[in-house]
Amino acid sequence: MTTTPAVEAHFSLPSPVAYAAAIERLRDASRTYYGAGYSVMDDAAYDRLRLAVTSWEAEHPEDVAPDSPAGQVADGAAPVGDVAHTTRLLSLDNVFAPEGLVAWGASLGRRLGHEPTGGFTVEPKMDGAAVAARYRDGRLVQVITRGDGARGEDVSHVIGTIEGLPERLPVPATFEARGEVLFTQEQFEAANELRIAHGAGVFANPRNGAAGTLRAKDRPYRPALTFWAYGVVELDGAAFLPAGAGHAETLAAVAAAGVRTTAATPAGLHTVATLAEAQERVDAIAAMRALLPFGIDGVVVKADSAGEQAAAGFGTRFPYWAIAYKLPAVERQTVLEDVFWEVGRTGVLAPTAVLTAVELDGSTVTRATLHNPADILRRDLHIGDTVTVHKAGDIIPRVQAAVVELRPPGAVPVPLPEACPNCGGEIDRGQERWRCAKGTACALAPLIEYVAGRDVLDIDGLGRRYVDALIAAGAVGDVADLFTLTEEQLTEASGSAKRGAKLAEQIRLARSRPLSRVFCALGVPGTGRSMSRRIAAHFGTMDAIRAADAETLQDVEGIGPEKAPVIVEQLSALAPVIDKLVAAGVAMTEPRQEPAEDAADRPLTGATVVVTGRMTGPLDGWGRSEMGALIEKAGGRVGSGVNSRTTYLVAAPSASGKPSSKAVKAQELGVEVLAPEDFAALVAAYLD
Ligand code: IVH
Repeated sequence: MTTTPAVEAHFSLPSPVAYAAAIERLRDASRTYYGAGYSVMDDAAYDRLRLAVTSWEAEHPEDVAPDSPAGQVADGAAPVGDVAHTTRLLSLDNVFAPEGLVAWGASLGRRLGHEPTGGFTVEPKMDGAAVAARYRDGRLVQVITRGDGARGEDVSHVIGTIEGLPERLPVPATFEARGEVLFTQEQFEAANELRIAHGAGVFANPRNGAAGTLRAKDRPYRPALTFWAYGVVELDGAAFLPAGAGHAETLAAVAAAGVRTTAATPAGLHTVATLAEAQERVDAIAAMRALLPFGIDGVVVKADSAGEQAAAGFGTRFPYWAIAYKLPAVERQTVLEDVFWEVGRTGVLAPTAVLTAVELDGSTVTRATLHNPADILRRDLHIGDTVTVHKAGDIIPRVQAAVVELRPPGAVPVPLPEACPNCGGEIDRGQERWRCAKGTACALAPLIEYVAGRDVLDIDGLGRRYVDALIAAGAVGDVADLFTLTEEQLTEASGSAKRGAKLAEQIRLARSRPLSRVFCALGVPGTGRSMSRRIAAHFGTMDAIRAADAETLQDVEGIGPEKAPVIVEQLSALAPVIDKLVAAGVAMTEPRQEPAEDAADRPLTGATVVVTGRMTGPLDGWGRSEMGALIEKAGGRVGSGVNSRTTYLVAAPSASGKPSSKAVKAQELGVEVLAPEDFAALVAAYLD
């Protein structure tokens, strides 16, 4: 895979007038960002605009505006503090595609007078705020923002709140670490909780939040941030680096002194010999982007050798020996046009945001989930708001926050439903996730259709049409009613005696499905197929599940203090349905896993397996649930996405010859890809 962002595609400025307007917009965007702390346009739009300006300037050098923002660090808009930097804190030039990286390599070669021979380092480009952190005799004495590159603001009040930037080092070293301060995703969520508790609005995104938090001196709360160093300079003439240290060795010295560096991120710092290998690392980091615990907006490639860096030198804005390979935007700004509500099979009311179409990480996004009413209120979302939307990899797009400063006059808060949007009945507002007071009975048809599916009770032939007919005839009012249907009722609903008999037989077979599937069929919110499997494996019987209190339920992986009481409450509300299932002779036990002694011998012990696409060969027609059960029986764990912990990806070669995104990722991460036939052979002893 090669990473070529579509949204940053070039556009050209047709005239000097368009150029003047473009630099004005660029100036405006940067002034608002650095001054008021919000963005009038997203990064993708900004990058496009900047590229148009720099291209025009390259073609018309004689007409470049003397004060063009494109020639200045931070467009000349960052607040300039009063602390002089030891040496200028520069920015990076950007490329957006493999050809750009090759062109950068060629220009580096021209500057050096020969092909670079010292190799390259490849590391993530973290999306935060640059700082210089000064250590004297092992003590963190000052933290300074980038400012205009020559002078920055003293933000030493953050000392002690930044992970990776300890106040004291284990060695009495004197040096200045340079790097990026940001919120990890977890810290970002904690920071927003803290803001809400203090009556402040949520941050639009982690980067704006980190920049604002750094500069805010007198807030009564101080959320934790994280630092990763990507460079170092000597301070007070103290010798810190080994003589002639290249970039990788420099960062190793910083890490040895106790400061976290980019090498410690999951993306790491890799040294490669050629730019072709650097491109491979860029693609590998791009593939793991969605799994990283913090935001990156690109990958930085640097000439590793100190000698070649010195020979290449610096321009006014950036070094010639380093380049940022920008990745496609995973966050954009767009307009929240509307919100609609649907009732899911568990009776939960799910809000969906309707957005003005926006290109995001290779697809057009027009919808995003909004979680629940409390979340909408916390974010204070209004219809017509410009909102930041995030989407990476296979993750469902989510609305992050409103850019409150861009709210149109008269915009109204997102209306919350007064009545159930499906049946018009009452809403149970007892939990953060509102539910129809009728629970699963409200959206009965989707629930029964889901329950009859291959992955749950596997009642072959019972599709939506017959489900609707059974409900309309009053024969099915809940899941348990399925098991007391007569052949006559099934004949009537399906319109044929033959089909009626077949359905009756299928329902008879469904009585002996394992507890995990029966539990899943209840439609308890938050207990889909894999969670139901975990619950059933943990407790073994329906009686034991019903006897569990909220605390005991939390022994099951993935059930926390929020989910546990909801499950307890729902199970008690579902008591009549469960009793009916028992009375109808439905199995209420989970077959035990093999004894622990042979656990180490099972073919998938310790393995995490991800399954994608249609199964073939002996596994033809197997659904996700069946595959999940097979993997667990054979001693493995089921993974949802391919990452560095994945052992196998089970995927049939695609008919088109174009591998799936999971297969591409697996290849890049060195994860073994097994065809369903090979996987079946591996676990043959467990195929029953
Ligand atoms: S090197 C003289 N490495 O990206 C070299 N910068 O858009 C200057 N950044 O100003 C920077 N991760 O704030 C470098 N691994 C990394 C980086 C990185 C993030 C930031 C840095 C820089 C900006 C340029």
